[in-house]
Amino acid sequence: MPSPSTNQGHSVDSFLNRHAQEFVFYGSGKAALYDGLAGLIEPGETVLVPAYLPDAVVEPLYDLELETEYYALEPSLAPDFVDLERRLDDDVIAVMSVNYFGFPHPGLDELRSIVADYGCYHVDDNAHAPLSVDGETVLGTRGHLGVTSLWKLFPVPDGAILYLNDEQAAEAYDPSSSAGVRDGFDGSDCRYLLKSAFRDVFDRNGTIRRSIDAILASRNDGRSVGGPRERYEKGKRPMSKLSAYVVEESDPRAIRQARRQNYLAWRQALESRDDVEFVFESLPEGICPQVAPVRAAGHEQFRAELDRCGVGGAKRWPRLSPRVREKPTYETATRLAREIVTLPVHQHIAPSTILDVGRQLRQ
Ligand SMILES: Cc1ncc(COP(=O)(O)O)c(C=O)c1O
Repeated sequence: MPSPSTNQGHSVDSFLNRHAQEFVFYGSGKAALYDGLAGLIEPGETVLVPAYLPDAVVEPLYDLELETEYYALEPSLAPDFVDLERRLDDDVIAVMSVNYFGFPHPGLDELRSIVADYGCYHVDDNAHAPLSVDGETVLGTRGHLGVTSLWKLFPVPDGAILYLNDEQAAEAYDPSSSAGVRDGFDGSDCRYLLKSAFRDVFDRNGTIRRSIDAILASRNDGRSVGGPRERYEKGKRPMSKLSAYVVEESDPRAIRQARRQNYLAWRQALESRDDVEFVFESLPEGICPQVAPVRAAGHEQFRAELDRCGVGGAKRWPRLSPRVREKPTYETATRLAREIVTLPVHQHIAPSTILDVGRQLRQ
């Protein structure tokens, strides 16, 4: 656990202690997922995961010698419940839901009730939403176990949390060598610090293009390169001490507020665009968006326009598994992966920068 914070009362630690029963830090969400499931499963059992999912997320499941099956989704991102129920048989040990982009998984209540009736475990994949709260519940704490990725929201080299939300999951939990926080600072912390110091110089003196690009480039510091296996292996270590320090010194309310303002700035900036549709109709209270996801029929042209305005890192998401890509059953997931463009809402971007991009897009 990180040392006591100077950010008393509003730190991430106090946020977690307020909202979560039991939690453990990890280097990556995938390593956390491995440990969370390890004590609950037998090799050969099946886990159902949504088809709209990055290819590497199933790697810990392969490591546990589990079978994985992808269930189809609706255009709203809700599960295709007919497809999901068709796959629920005696071999299924767990079903995963995903709180996409910081928002609760559409259809989550129905999924939870199906999973409860069926009697298997529910994994609440909350990689995108460490600071999102739905009513009084922090996202990621609804399943028997949940995972959340800190590095997707905070300017840190790595970091994730495993939530053990249920007695059975907590009792079965046996931490591997990837659990916890590393004791000292090491070379990877120093490389990260050097890179971020360099980035700050750019931010202060740069144009809009440079500042947005720099922020986005910083999210791409090696995590998205390499194959799915390689990315999983890289994350199998405890969280860095630097990450623990930065996370502990951060104010969750300020980050949530800044990201919400940026999300709303994108809504304003793209208001006049009939060809761009926000994936979520509203921004409910308590939600801390990871990005502002939009669907654009002319996605290639839209991304080129954004690039021209300096938003070089607006990305398509995710890189789907080859088991999903272009398969007729997963037509919707394939289409979503092609058409959804994720717009940056990082807390270090000023809303005025986004509104300015909107003005440039209209010219
Ligand atoms: C939906 C989802 N789940 C899990 C993960 C894994 O998180 P991590 O990269 O921290 O292992 C990711 C990472 O991109 C993700 O997008």
